[in-house]
Amino acid sequence: MENENLNTEITNSAGLRIDIISCVPRLLDSFFDHSILKRAKEAGHAEVVIHDLRDYSTHKQKQIDDYAFGGGAGMVLGIETIARCIRSLQNIRIYDEIIYMTPDGERFEQKVANRLSMSKNLMILCGHYKGIDERVREHFITKEISIGDYVLSGGELPAAVVSDAIIRLIPGVLNDETSALTDSFQDNLLAPPVYTRPADFEGWKVPEILLSGHEKKIAEWRLEQSIKRTQARRPDLLQ
Ligand code: ADE
Repeated sequence: MENENLNTEITNSAGLRIDIISCVPRLLDSFFDHSILKRAKEAGHAEVVIHDLRDYSTHKQKQIDDYAFGGGAGMVLGIETIARCIRSLQNIRIYDEIIYMTPDGERFEQKVANRLSMSKNLMILCGHYKGIDERVREHFITKEISIGDYVLSGGELPAAVVSDAIIRLIPGVLNDETSALTDSFQDNLLAPPVYTRPADFEGWKVPEILLSGHEKKIAEWRLEQSIKRTQARRPDLLQ
């Protein structure tokens, strides 16, 4: 029988559900148990369920990796355990995407987060060691994502980054819905500077305009600052 243990209850009648498959699940536990993500879960907007890949191993020692055919350094996550895990999740719900976190995937950007935030069910597989058997990528994975041109020791942090970026976009997750819309990158512009009290700290003053109460002028100032900042720091975004 397929391994039907753990966390497979159907709970996302509304919201987005993200199933994350990892061989070091404890790396992820606390991340999703705090602040916005915790509130998103409590309000039923999003739920992240973490699965320990080892729970799906049929080996006595719960082995999930093996030597690479053809030799070479490093162990490779095998297809059998991963297939068992993915299929047992697929038996319960239909996934919009089955994502593999890998440095050779598509670069993760805001527009990818925007698109994924409209999903109902996502599955994210975290890689480890030297990688996973290529057949998993060919036959199960529908999308491969990299969070940047550097190599981390596993896909857990990238999976957390991607989940966070997606979940905060779901309407209702942030207190003020417009705050996700005014994030950096949403309109190819970096966000303008922000200030809070005191208006004068040891002579370092907040720009007058922000204290004026003049909404239209403030909006114009913010746009101007966004454009200036983008020109100075990320001119590539304006092209
Ligand atoms: N796994 C290891 N490095 C990664 C990266 N940069 N992006 C996504 N997954 C990864």
